[in-house]
Amino acid sequence: MKSNGILRRDWLVGTGASLLTLAASAKTSAALAGPQATKSSDAEEADRARRMQWWHEARFGMFVHWGLYSVLGRHEWVMENEGIPVSEYEQLAKRFQPKPNAARAWAKLAKQAGQKYMVMTSKHHEGFCNFDTKLNNYCAPKQGPGRDLAREYVEAARAEGLRVGFYYSLMDWHHPDGARCATNEDARKRFVEYTHGLIRELLTNYGKIDVLWYDVSWPLDARGWESERMNKMVFELQPDIIVNNRNALPGDFSTPEQEIVADKRGRAWESCMTLNESWGYHQADDAWKTPKTIVRNLVYCAHDGGNYLLNIGPKPDGSIPEESVRVLTEVGRWTSRNGESIHTQDRCQPHESNYAAFTRKGNTLYMHVYFWPGETVALAGLKTGVKSAWLLASGQQVKFQQDRFRVRFTGLPAEAPDHPVTTIAIECESEPLQDTDFVRRERPRNTV
Ligand code: GLC
Repeated sequence: MKSNGILRRDWLVGTGASLLTLAASAKTSAALAGPQATKSSDAEEADRARRMQWWHEARFGMFVHWGLYSVLGRHEWVMENEGIPVSEYEQLAKRFQPKPNAARAWAKLAKQAGQKYMVMTSKHHEGFCNFDTKLNNYCAPKQGPGRDLAREYVEAARAEGLRVGFYYSLMDWHHPDGARCATNEDARKRFVEYTHGLIRELLTNYGKIDVLWYDVSWPLDARGWESERMNKMVFELQPDIIVNNRNALPGDFSTPEQEIVADKRGRAWESCMTLNESWGYHQADDAWKTPKTIVRNLVYCAHDGGNYLLNIGPKPDGSIPEESVRVLTEVGRWTSRNGESIHTQDRCQPHESNYAAFTRKGNTLYMHVYFWPGETVALAGLKTGVKSAWLLASGQQVKFQQDRFRVRFTGLPAEAPDHPVTTIAIECESEPLQDTDFVRRERPRNTV
């Protein structure tokens, strides 16, 4: 997944603008690249902001991993992890026979869950294409499915008003040149043309595509993949699209995986995560996250200005594992009541509590209480005056008392009034800021 060995030059040429999200980096970049580059970087940055706007507002998306590995139901890396020969694995292509329009249920569930966009695997590491292509026979219309699964997906997402993304794995375990491209220049040239060709088809044949989500650039680097030319083609075909950073160039956003960490350089970021421990369908994987964990994760992403791309791994017939439906449905009940607290572009400074997490919109602080303490909920070190407070789900006003060291919300129910997390909206006099060091230092000691 890592963009391995990016040269400084590639970095400047490839991202230019993305660095400029940090004012300091902008200066460095301009100094290194000269006035011409500054000009184009500013233009690129403005264009990036335009393309990324919907995505920042969207916050929450659905990832879908679906392919031949779903037939075996033992994780999407089964081919490599069990050392299955290509000739044996290929047989799955005939056995993969999903029911028509399975994607409609995915899109409906995504919408209900409060997800605003979808990203589906068009080709995973196994090399099988869920879309129609002239470049191989190892694709859905020419194999078991007998039709274009990417088209069904695109239409289903659009029918629910969701933005549409394609995941595409550069690494390919099936193609004859997929590994030897690293050591044989003719193979590299062929494989790069094949790869660029498949991406061209994806971005030509399905109307407007909103996200291109590259994955695993092994065994080449940006120069080997000709990633700059790749991105140039992508933007020529789809001027509004956004691309991630996994074709060994920085792209428009970073992609922390299975963890929630804001990008240290201040770039846009999206945390992708599984609902259990597998991306592809894994029948025996019962390590499901709870709805509470998912809501908390969504809140943590919103706290630091990131997106959350949460995965489902449909079964070979296209149906969604029951546990995924259950979790996402409950998450959707929460987002329908509390969505305003996560759809915000404002970073939130307060973060200290052992039972709550926080987001902010303007002067309103949202305190997301995930372990409900009972009739009183308290917060230390809020430096900003509170004007009013209410339970976000019901609108019910909440009484409060505030001094220099804490604010206490009182008269609350003994049991949590909302599930899996109760959000208290706290309107403050200015941007809410928390300082717990102040409390530790200044609070009156006994006899002093
Ligand atoms: C990793 C895995 C892959 C999965 C991806 C999602 O790169 O190799 O199976 O598709 O992460 O982010």
